[in-house]
Amino acid sequence: MVQRFEGRVAVITGGSSGIGLATARRLASEGAKVVIGDISAEAGKAAADEVGGLFVQADVTDADQVEALFQTTVDTFGSVDVAFNNAGISPPEDDSILTTGIDAWEKVQKVNLTSVYLCCKAVLPHMQRQGKGSIINTASFVAVMGAATSQISYTASKGGVLAMSRELGVQFARENIRVNALCPGPVNTPLLKELFAKDPERAARRLVHVPVGRFAEPEEIAGAVAFLASDDASFITASQFLVDGGISGAYVTPL
Ligand SMILES: NC(=O)c1ccc[n+]([C@@H]2O[C@H](COP(=O)([O-])OP(=O)(O)OC[C@H]3O[C@@H](n4cnc5c(N)ncnc54)[C@H](O)[C@@H]3O)[C@@H](O)[C@H]2O)c1
Repeated sequence: MVQRFEGRVAVITGGSSGIGLATARRLASEGAKVVIGDISAEAGKAAADEVGGLFVQADVTDADQVEALFQTTVDTFGSVDVAFNNAGISPPEDDSILTTGIDAWEKVQKVNLTSVYLCCKAVLPHMQRQGKGSIINTASFVAVMGAATSQISYTASKGGVLAMSRELGVQFARENIRVNALCPGPVNTPLLKELFAKDPERAARRLVHVPVGRFAEPEEIAGAVAFLASDDASFITASQFLVDGGISGAYVTPL
């Protein structure tokens, strides 16, 4: 494996599961020191131990805990070169706008969107001081296209992540800080697998729209994050980086 992150430090929120965990493994395998920031203590510690990194328990909706996550990283390893702001939720009570209550709406906005604001706000001064950095914020393909199977607050939150990342990418471009929005298509996480195993029709309704005919594996998303985080992506900033198996480009998919 090429060592693109030798001597570099990466913070990954939501790093103890799914896309975040796959990315922790990938970045560590390319030489990064990885810091896992997650609300879940047990899984977070296990993930950090596995990749030889550091676990900092942090609720990404809490400004003080987010501050502490990045400060602890800098105090321990001397820099923060990559911030993968990835923690997010999609609870079942967030559904059609007609049935989604204000509490569900606000909870999702807080965990998915306010958290990215807090993480960027906390990490940018460190990156300004260093004169470099790469921030990757996890949005989603639903930030660029509509679904009749709505999760209204989730979609709105990811649209917010996309617009905020674009703006930050532009604002900090001349300070050698890149900010990109990662837009994954549906990923084969344990939760999704379980849901679709119980309800094959639900899976089929979605799969028909995917040109490649399957969902992504977390490792395929991690590969894209590693690219965006690395110097290979030195001219890529303020982008909506779609890793979606062709969904957003498709009208009629192959049989
Ligand atoms: N799985 C998909 O199909 C898919 C598709 C597009 C985008 N995404 C996005 O990718 C990101 C990761 O998703 P995933 O599928 O790997 O999810 P996951 O549920 O496997 O992992 C999410 C992680 O975030 C952590 N987390 C949740 N709330 C937190 C909080 N308040 N503070 C700190 N950590 C918290 C969880 O403990 C968990 O480790 C999310 O932002 C999600 O919206 C997922």
